[in-house]
Amino acid sequence: MSIRFDDRVVVVTGAGQGLGRCHALEYARRGAKLLINDLGGSTTGEGGDGDLAQRVADEIIAAGGHAVANRDSVEHGERIIEAAIDAFGRVDVVVNNAGFLRDRSFAKMTDEDWNLMIQVHLVGGYRVTRAAWPHMREQSYGRIVFTTSAAGIYGNMGQANYAAAKLGLVGLAQSLAIEGRSRNILVNSIAPLAGSRLTATVLPAEVVETLKPEYVTPLVLLLTSETHDESGRLYEAGGGWVSQSRWQQSEGAYFDQLFSPEQLQARWAEICSFEHPRHVQSIGDIRTGVPERLGTDFALTPQ
Ligand SMILES: NC(=O)c1ccc[n+]([C@@H]2O[C@H](COP(=O)([O-])OP(=O)(O)OC[C@H]3O[C@@H](n4cnc5c(N)ncnc54)[C@H](O)[C@@H]3O)[C@@H](O)[C@H]2O)c1
Repeated sequence: MSIRFDDRVVVVTGAGQGLGRCHALEYARRGAKLLINDLGGSTTGEGGDGDLAQRVADEIIAAGGHAVANRDSVEHGERIIEAAIDAFGRVDVVVNNAGFLRDRSFAKMTDEDWNLMIQVHLVGGYRVTRAAWPHMREQSYGRIVFTTSAAGIYGNMGQANYAAAKLGLVGLAQSLAIEGRSRNILVNSIAPLAGSRLTATVLPAEVVETLKPEYVTPLVLLLTSETHDESGRLYEAGGGWVSQSRWQQSEGAYFDQLFSPEQLQARWAEICSFEHPRHVQSIGDIRTGVPERLGTDFALTPQ
């Protein structure tokens, strides 16, 4: 095995089952020391089985690996990172994976459905990462993965709360990729598709069985490996398929003078044509041509 994690400390949130457990076991097989976090919640975020994380840690230890369990919610990310530091003295990799669903049409969604989703997926991802960040900066090494979802990228019926939280994570990841680069902290996002108790609520049993989490785990390990150098990217993976997704911009149209909605309408097809799409790679790319035309220059950086 050439991709190894010997002496690396890896934190996987929501690692008691499903994708997180699968990632954790593979990291352990490749020499990592694991912090297995899981509060053992139900699919909708209530109650739970507090021993879930301990069982995965025990499995790793029984196979000769190193692992400690933690059952805090990701909302208390600082406790999770503290547990990793107490046990192993450092943190090299964070896989933000914990999550659950509260699917409901927007018309029926309660404030609680909305708040819980933002709180666990987005705020939880923020808190765990924020707590790990100073350690990674200090050691000039860090690898972070955020688990987003196709529902966030494309939208989905009954998942407005989940989609908003999940795409929020992509914005977080893309900005952290920029801020972390100079300290060798790489940050990427993955949108997985895998059979788990979450997808068992929407997919037939035989499909859940076929879409093994093992098809997603190699991507997470590659993105967080020592020699991998890409950051700020978004990948989709599941069932043996792996791809990269990115934003594109239509070529658009320029107006030489202030214009009316009717003039805009007249050129709408041109504005929305993707015949010559541009792949925008940074915020600086979006202003091509505008400063020159306005006879001014500007940069979209904090003043
Ligand atoms: N399975 C898929 O096809 C799929 C698709 C898109 C995104 N995802 C995302 O992948 C991640 C893993 O999903 P899965 O399918 O393996 O689900 P899963 O339910 O099998 O595992 C998620 C784990 O997260 C834990 N968890 C929930 N809230 C937590 C909290 N506040 N703190 C700590 N742990 C918590 C749960 O107890 C559970 O063990 C989730 O973020 C999910 O949204 C999964």
